[in-house]
Amino acid sequence: MKTFRLQLRFLLPLALVLVAAAYLSLPLVDQLTQRWFSRDLDIRGRLIANALADPLTQALAEGASPRVQALLERTVRDERLLALGLCAPDGRLLQASSAFPSELGCRAAAPAGSELSALHRTDGGPVHLRTQPLVIGGSHSADLVLVHDFSFVEHRSQDTRRYLLYLIVAMGASMALITMIVAQLSWRGWVAGARALLRGEGLVRPLAAPAPELAPLAAELRSRLRRLEDEYRRARGPEGPWDAPRLRQLLGTELSGQEVIVVSNREPYIHEHGAGGLEVKRPASGLVTAVEPVMRACAGTWVAHGSGSGDRDAVDSGDRVRVPPESGDYTLRRIWLTEEEERGYYYGFANEGLWPLCHVAHVRPVFRQSDWDSYRAVNQRFADAVAAEARSEDPIVLVQDYHFALLPAMLRERLPAATIITFWHIPWPNPEFFGICPWAPELLRGMLGSTILGFHTRHHCRNFMETVDRQLEARIEPEHDTIFHEGKETLIENYPISIDWPSEQAAAAWPPVPVCRDRVREHFGLGPDALIAVGVDRFDYTKGILERLYAVERMLEKHPELRGRFSLVQIAAPTRSALDEYRAFQRRISDLAERINARFGGPGHAPVHLVAEHHDHAALLELYRAADACVVTSLHDGMNLVSKEFVATRDDEQGVLVLSRFAGAAREMTEALIVNPYHVEETADALHRAITMPPQEQRERMASLRSTVHEFNVFRWAGRMLGDAARVRLRERIAQRVEGMSHG
Ligand code: G6P
Repeated sequence: MKTFRLQLRFLLPLALVLVAAAYLSLPLVDQLTQRWFSRDLDIRGRLIANALADPLTQALAEGASPRVQALLERTVRDERLLALGLCAPDGRLLQASSAFPSELGCRAAAPAGSELSALHRTDGGPVHLRTQPLVIGGSHSADLVLVHDFSFVEHRSQDTRRYLLYLIVAMGASMALITMIVAQLSWRGWVAGARALLRGEGLVRPLAAPAPELAPLAAELRSRLRRLEDEYRRARGPEGPWDAPRLRQLLGTELSGQEVIVVSNREPYIHEHGAGGLEVKRPASGLVTAVEPVMRACAGTWVAHGSGSGDRDAVDSGDRVRVPPESGDYTLRRIWLTEEEERGYYYGFANEGLWPLCHVAHVRPVFRQSDWDSYRAVNQRFADAVAAEARSEDPIVLVQDYHFALLPAMLRERLPAATIITFWHIPWPNPEFFGICPWAPELLRGMLGSTILGFHTRHHCRNFMETVDRQLEARIEPEHDTIFHEGKETLIENYPISIDWPSEQAAAAWPPVPVCRDRVREHFGLGPDALIAVGVDRFDYTKGILERLYAVERMLEKHPELRGRFSLVQIAAPTRSALDEYRAFQRRISDLAERINARFGGPGHAPVHLVAEHHDHAALLELYRAADACVVTSLHDGMNLVSKEFVATRDDEQGVLVLSRFAGAAREMTEALIVNPYHVEETADALHRAITMPPQEQRERMASLRSTVHEFNVFRWAGRMLGDAARVRLRERIAQRVEGMSHG
């Protein structure tokens, strides 16, 4: 419609110019035609008159009037010459050929004796008269009047007008057509150029170079966007600290009024039937630890699998319950899965297939067709549920983790305008390794339904882009961190996840460190000079618990003076125990702990305290604050939040973090003692160094770690993702406007 209007602006003046041209040129053409033909007839008349002059004067002189008549009649056999007449000097018609128009007579001719031509209209049509004086015997005796038919000139003139009109119309039509085509092409060029610009492709790309006339528009758009971003940054302040109010402010300004929906497998609150009735538990999950404070801040809806024994009793008729129980900040919508679905989708495809595939932790991934079918079906059910929960056409949907690789594309079908941010909480392996999965292309296609796809580290982003490059026909632009696939753009970005940094009020309420140490010592029967290391993990083979125990064993071998003093308190929250691999791993760890205890323990002392139980936040806080060292030896970990929680609890700036270089956290927490957990000797030495580190060095390292985690907290993680989402939405909105302009 817009281009049509634009074209009208060209076409109307064009039509006016053509009408004016026709109006002015047609009479001119008439006049010219008449003049040219009159002149022709004059010349012709003179020729005929000259040819007749001699025989006529002779016949007239002899008074042979029949000869004169015959001469006149023979001459008018000519096609154009209608009639001839002889006029006397006194104006009488002496003699004339038979077709001489009676109404003309000699009056219409020129005054006697003069040579002239004129046009006359007779009953038979227009005629051309030419008068030629005849001289007999030296004096003027008569005038020969030649009457030529002039109607053919009118016919020719009409033909000429018609052809001219055709020509003008044809020219007009061709010019209009050319105008339309040029307008259409250049508009498309503009639109494509503007789109390319909005995608951030710039104006100097060799391929798809936008029309040069786009340059001013591009400059204007870019400067407006830049101004907007500057304003945003100014409003945000100089990289100030991220916290819940600032995230809320972002949601209230740039994403004002936008609905936020989170979808994850694990729910943030689990209702269980216990001895005291319905109890609420928090699961041991890094994902829940990170996303929950964000949801509290933005008060949206969280869609998750209802897995607790009391979950159905806690929800309303729409399967919804307000959580957290004490404040009801947001809605938890529970999805029920059958045992079979859980076996196929969760235990099977997600945890026997994708989990070992992405962690590369030397456990073979298992891929079964039935698990894949179930994974697809459950992804579809969650996508349907998210679409049903959405109150708007374009909510912001935060899809969490490897349980829902297919959901983004499924949701895109249901809610094309949604902003889908998928965060992959676990590592992404290299392309060769990912290629093991029989459904690799389907998984990638599903994930590329996302607007933004987030990983913890740049390394994982790179692996993902390379995997897409191998598996799909897609355009990858590493310089812009984007993948274009099936006409859709996905931003691939790294967002290191983190924790909710404790507030000063919360920290003020914590039990003092000496109190925590006393309680822990008492609980585990440790001596007053005990050196305590803690490990807190889900009981998972990726966490490097086995390697940690080997390091403890080796350290005690190398440092006998520590026997009887050193203890590792290892909390291992049971997880996925329905799987053989996990059960076998848990047995192996228990056996090893027993062996070490038998080797280096004594009456009333065990170097390894393996507690295979879930611990709540308060119990973990006490443990972290009591520890001389916290040991994180993951064989591969997306981020690992235990390392961050440990430093967050140490406001006394004491305690040392031993951290695996294969955990994403090692990229940020460089003041930790970084180890290769596969290297038992190195890990044993790092553990020894940690528990014997002078307090001043501990303080320096801990202070630095704390300031890093304080700054790079979970609100920054969410804020950066949502900020990027806001920018993408703004760009899409502008692109839609440009598109709208092109379609009217
Ligand atoms: C990892 C995964 C999370 C998962 C958590 C607990 O952190 O990335 O998605 O929630 O483990 O695992 P679980 O299988 O018990 O939910």
